[in-house]
Amino acid sequence: MAKINPAYQRLSAGYLFPEIARRTREFQTANPDAQILRLGIGDTTEALPQAAIDGMNEAVAKQGNRDSYIGYGDSEGIAPLREAIADMYKAWGAEVNVADVFVSDGAKSDSANIQSIFSSDAVVAVQDPAYPVYVDSNVMAGRTGLKNEQGQYEGLVYMPCTAENGFFPEIPDQKVDLIYICSPNNPTGTVATRAQLEGFVNYALENKAVIIFDSAYAAFIEDESLPRSIYEIPGARKCAIEVNSFSKTAGFTGVRLGWAIVPTELEAEDAEAGVLHKMWTRRQNTYFNGASIVVQAGGLATLSDEGKKQTGELVSYYMENARIIRECLISVGLTVFGGKNAPYVWMKTPEGISSWEFFDKLLGECNVVGTPGAGFGPSGEGYFRLSAFGHRENIFEATERIKNQLKLG
Ligand code: MLT
Repeated sequence: MAKINPAYQRLSAGYLFPEIARRTREFQTANPDAQILRLGIGDTTEALPQAAIDGMNEAVAKQGNRDSYIGYGDSEGIAPLREAIADMYKAWGAEVNVADVFVSDGAKSDSANIQSIFSSDAVVAVQDPAYPVYVDSNVMAGRTGLKNEQGQYEGLVYMPCTAENGFFPEIPDQKVDLIYICSPNNPTGTVATRAQLEGFVNYALENKAVIIFDSAYAAFIEDESLPRSIYEIPGARKCAIEVNSFSKTAGFTGVRLGWAIVPTELEAEDAEAGVLHKMWTRRQNTYFNGASIVVQAGGLATLSDEGKKQTGELVSYYMENARIIRECLISVGLTVFGGKNAPYVWMKTPEGISSWEFFDKLLGECNVVGTPGAGFGPSGEGYFRLSAFGHRENIFEATERIKNQLKLG
């Protein structure tokens, strides 16, 4: 008789973004005339850069010709793309070699799957609030108990990120094995400094812990003094995995392409250099036949000089949206964080209003969808996230409605 994986039953609710979509649909059904503006999920809206389109068109044409047709590729990705990704890191001052690069269908899959190469009793530390995938994937893998009354899964180590600590956590005061860090941060929109990352790298080296560093929003960093990659920090090649993506930079949220860096030097308590790299290779060879050849060609084209110029323009467009949202929220008297060097604006909900209550209020009064901070973890309660990935005209409209229709005390 087949039995189910009992760990799935410990998941306390549905995944955050489908839940928001469900509540939004319900509101739309009840209010059919409402013109809803979506600043909830961080989903890109502008068209793909021309370089990506040209790269993919060329690859499609090659697939249509038996002499240039390619079937299965290496699960690690095509060599030119791996080389271009490694070169990008070098330009950032981060040491990444071609062999470390594993191309994938996105940072979401990698950040969910990477835990599978670690022991099932690994103690996992997460920033709180955090992108829900880090927590949910570890719940599904059986590393936690049930969610307690504080909204925390038993067995996980929550590292609170609040206004008081500038939304970057203290170094754990206990021994943990896996540490998830996202910078620029989703959802708080804050960016870790070099000194803050050094603290975690030193902790990881001393404790033989591994950092899983999500840098999906690195391209949004405008301040040159802020690190774009954990590998800008000495020692990180021994203790950190990094995931990143073409989704937000090149508008590939629907096209799908990302990568993981698993350095050949990476170590763990019971694994010398090379072991984890081999394990991830083995895992990917078994579960994955590589990202689409066509999509990889598109991603590669965005890393050409012309492609970088075009993706830079896209990033600037969304960052201007972030500035407009920030200024609007400040102008109506709200307390605002993030939105600089990151495409998410994180605000404090008005006194006495929970983050889900604010979701209903913003939707009801302004027909604008955002994301309640509590959806990202218990320390997100009392906060709310707005995404800057919309069309400019919708950002203008949403901010006008917030200025004119949102009833604030
Ligand atoms: C978010 O809104 O947090 C992200 O866009 C979701 C994702 O990238 O999967």
